[in-house]
Amino acid sequence: MCGIVGYIGNQDAKEILLQGLEKLEYRGYDSAGIAIVSEDNNHLFKEKGRIAALREAVDYNVNGTVGIGHTRWATHGAPSQINAHPHQSASKRFTIVHNGVIENYQQLMREYLADVDFVSDTDTEVVVQLIEKFVSEGQSVEGAFRFTLSLLKGSYALALLDREDRNKVYVGKNKSPLLVGISEDVNVVASDAMAMLHVTDQFVELMDQEMVIVTRDNITIKTLAGETIDREPYTAELDASDIEKGTYPHYMLKEIDEQPLVIRNIISKYQDDNNDIKLSADIREAMKEADRIYIIAAGTSYHAGLVGKQLIEKLAGKPVETHIASEFLYNMPLLSEKPLFIFISQSGETADSRGVLVKVKEKGYPALTITNVPGSTLSREADFTLHTFAGPEIAVASTKAYTAQMAVLAILAVDTAKAKGIEIDFDPIQELSIVANAMEALCDQKEKLEKIAREYLAVTRNCFFIGRAADYFVCLEGALKLKEISYIQAEGFAGGELKHGTIALIEDGTPIIAIATQEHVNLSIRGNVKEVAARGAYPCIISMEGLQEEGDTLVIPAVHEYLTTLVSVIPLQIISYYAALHRDCDVDKPRNLAKSVTVE
Ligand code: M6R
Repeated sequence: MCGIVGYIGNQDAKEILLQGLEKLEYRGYDSAGIAIVSEDNNHLFKEKGRIAALREAVDYNVNGTVGIGHTRWATHGAPSQINAHPHQSASKRFTIVHNGVIENYQQLMREYLADVDFVSDTDTEVVVQLIEKFVSEGQSVEGAFRFTLSLLKGSYALALLDREDRNKVYVGKNKSPLLVGISEDVNVVASDAMAMLHVTDQFVELMDQEMVIVTRDNITIKTLAGETIDREPYTAELDASDIEKGTYPHYMLKEIDEQPLVIRNIISKYQDDNNDIKLSADIREAMKEADRIYIIAAGTSYHAGLVGKQLIEKLAGKPVETHIASEFLYNMPLLSEKPLFIFISQSGETADSRGVLVKVKEKGYPALTITNVPGSTLSREADFTLHTFAGPEIAVASTKAYTAQMAVLAILAVDTAKAKGIEIDFDPIQELSIVANAMEALCDQKEKLEKIAREYLAVTRNCFFIGRAADYFVCLEGALKLKEISYIQAEGFAGGELKHGTIALIEDGTPIIAIATQEHVNLSIRGNVKEVAARGAYPCIISMEGLQEEGDTLVIPAVHEYLTTLVSVIPLQIISYYAALHRDCDVDKPRNLAKSVTVE
């Protein structure tokens, strides 16, 4: 989704900002722009499309040591050069970039800006015009900025330049992530630390409804009431090399291949010297105390949550409900007396999940975040965090974060069972190492999986994934993977549900990918395959060693029945990857999608 960078230092800002924007490309965007403060003016360069197009549009004769940049994922107004950020006030004195959504922008326009001619269709332009209006009425720039922020409803991360004061960048934040990076005589602004790691690894977090005046050698954080706040920086523990593709053609393929390593990493992080599970006593207590667990997540993380429910219920005997964050937000079910909320989020920044967390905290309920980004909003605002240790996930299609989430959930489930004194015959550490080996074996079968992708998916219009029990959950994820990167209409169904409607869609040659890793439903799912095959479908059966039948398309190595989803998803990820390649799709940056969905 949208990204912000800002720089105030002693070097030419253009290249630093452009490099910063390139680091944010993975988040998804449809236009990009930078503004550079030079001796005589604020210079604006913006383009629809990729940063490569912006690079061509930049006038390299314009030099300046202060600037801001933006990648836009359109919300208000189509993706276009005009709607791309930065935006300027009518006199062009003020220049702004914005992430988020200003919910009351039309009301503000009517109330304060009736006589202003707007250039773009964006909500952002209202903010910069308001600042100009209040300054023209006699307020200081800082005062006008603060007053404007106090009028805004919705989410924002903002960075503002003033042509009349070339030594300051004003920033403000509410609900959208924003950090200020500090170094010697250089300060930066970034919506994601990764974007500015080439300048500094020291960052200061901003809280909601705070603003900062950033100069070369100082940052002043204030509340909207004008009180100054002291806050220590933290070190962003990110390795810049983790965010490189290396020899891989795409991040997605690299991240798929990293999964065995990620699982081994999780094992080492969650195992103590006695080979027991290492987990904070507070989390253990919170899990034990809760009478019901509510898992809240979106997309792929929601699919991991479905598996998590099953693991916690089966192993720890604790009732769990898994909810889609955006639904839970506006349609909260009746809650139990002592709930514990678990938020699952790769990025830790998903606005829908954060919306629920805010409500949960208002009610005083405990919350645990399972995330790949400790220090993210969901991690900071929850009471506890479990880290998934998957390393930065850059491809929009989530792969290693999903399997890491399920691995951590399995460990949590076993730990809770043990805390409750339940005897179980399942050692997650040992079983996860078997999973890592099985993943490796599947990652080595790319040639075969590429052939399957070509045969079943190179030209099809649609594809259905069917499975029962845990296999159904992985079908939902397989379908999401396929549709988001190859644009094939793909849906996951519980095998038994097909004949209640969906079977009407089966035509001659419709590809059906069936997953069969669960012994207790093996016969039933095979029956479902026969039903669709009899109606012309073209089935691809992925079964597990020990349950295979003659003619199965792929047999995955056997793993514990609680952990099959971690392994059966690997061929689905790889098949989706090759299907997207066969259809000439942009694997790492699928259309209309963003890596981190920071607007509701
Ligand atoms: O960062 P999160 O895990 O909270 O993101 C949730 C979804 O937006 C995300 O999983 C999305 O569905 C992925 N693109 C799927 O590959």
